[in-house]
Amino acid sequence: MTADHAAELFRSTFGAEPSGVWSAPGRVNLIGEHTDYNGGLCLPIALPQRTFAAVRRRDDDVVRVVSAQADGLVEVSLGAVGPGNPSGWAAYVAGVPWSLRGAGYAVGGLDVAVDGRVPLGAGLSSSAALECAVVAAASDLHDLGLLASASGRSTLAAVCVEAENAVAQAPTGGMDQSAALLAEEGHALLLDCRDHSTEQVPFDLAAHGLALLVMDTRAEHALVDGQYAERRDSCEQAARELDVASLREVSADDLAEILPTLSSDLLRRRARHVVTEIERVRQAVGALRNDDFQAVGRLFLESHASMRDDFEISVAELDTAVDAAVRAGALGARMTGGGFGGSAIALVQADAAEATITAVEKAFADSGFGAPDCFVVTASGSAGRDA
Ligand code: GLA
Repeated sequence: MTADHAAELFRSTFGAEPSGVWSAPGRVNLIGEHTDYNGGLCLPIALPQRTFAAVRRRDDDVVRVVSAQADGLVEVSLGAVGPGNPSGWAAYVAGVPWSLRGAGYAVGGLDVAVDGRVPLGAGLSSSAALECAVVAAASDLHDLGLLASASGRSTLAAVCVEAENAVAQAPTGGMDQSAALLAEEGHALLLDCRDHSTEQVPFDLAAHGLALLVMDTRAEHALVDGQYAERRDSCEQAARELDVASLREVSADDLAEILPTLSSDLLRRRARHVVTEIERVRQAVGALRNDDFQAVGRLFLESHASMRDDFEISVAELDTAVDAAVRAGALGARMTGGGFGGSAIALVQADAAEATITAVEKAFADSGFGAPDCFVVTASGSAGRDA
């Protein structure tokens, strides 16, 4: 039990009992990529892989944090937390009480011991899982009661996004934190990033003899190296040129007419990805509700092509994983998350999962890539208290 590991790390580091252990899941997005910061739609599920945080409330302003996945103890006063401080993974912890304060909640310091079981750097939102485990703990330990309702959980997601944007300085859009706080077991979360409404969409592949495979390429993935921000800037520029609040306001039906008015081919391709991707989310939700998994698979493939050719966020390893899975018989496959490395997903017949994994591993070996890490996932539950 990793809840026990986190508690044990807490005891050995701080010489005291934690008040409790909280955890939050990583996520994969089924479809709807780089749509969240465009006011669009996305459709993540929460993963079985979770990050655990053993936490005790402090009476002062100090945050102390230790992790089973990193060396050393980081200690910072909340008054000193701000853009870039602390740096690295500890920003995703200390940024949370800092951001809660900014949102008007009277919270103080925390001692935190982390055991992260969401693969790091795999594009599976290990950082959002970390923030959300800590925010769940802070909400309970300060009696904020925000875990008890969907609207409270949305508030906590917004707090975590602010921590990530302002302290960790990753200009991400919020899908990951919403998935970690709001996704329900056996469901995908349809997230409308314009009005922040959510809908639970049944997602029980096993009942249909199917499975979802995650293919972690282990190709380096980072959201803070400028490429993600560049895509976001391009989308915002396209929206400005079209005189709309966000690309969400552009309908797929009007694309042919509107695209030529943009000032460059690059902006046309970026905007085309976002507008068509939002439409694909709508279609995927309809297909899921009709148990039309062939259509879901086709939409995965269209989405991947759009990210590869128009949004240009794929890499050779991701394309190889997608192609190999499809050649092995997958109904569809696509990269998931921010891109530039990380993971792809494939929708496969449950009894073909092992053979698909073997085929993907062989394709990686044949291409001279390092071995990928492939595993089947199911739609799991959101952040909460474990012990
Ligand atoms: C990362 C970001 C999200 C989202 C995805 C792309 O995971 O954290 O906000 O933009 O990339 O869909």
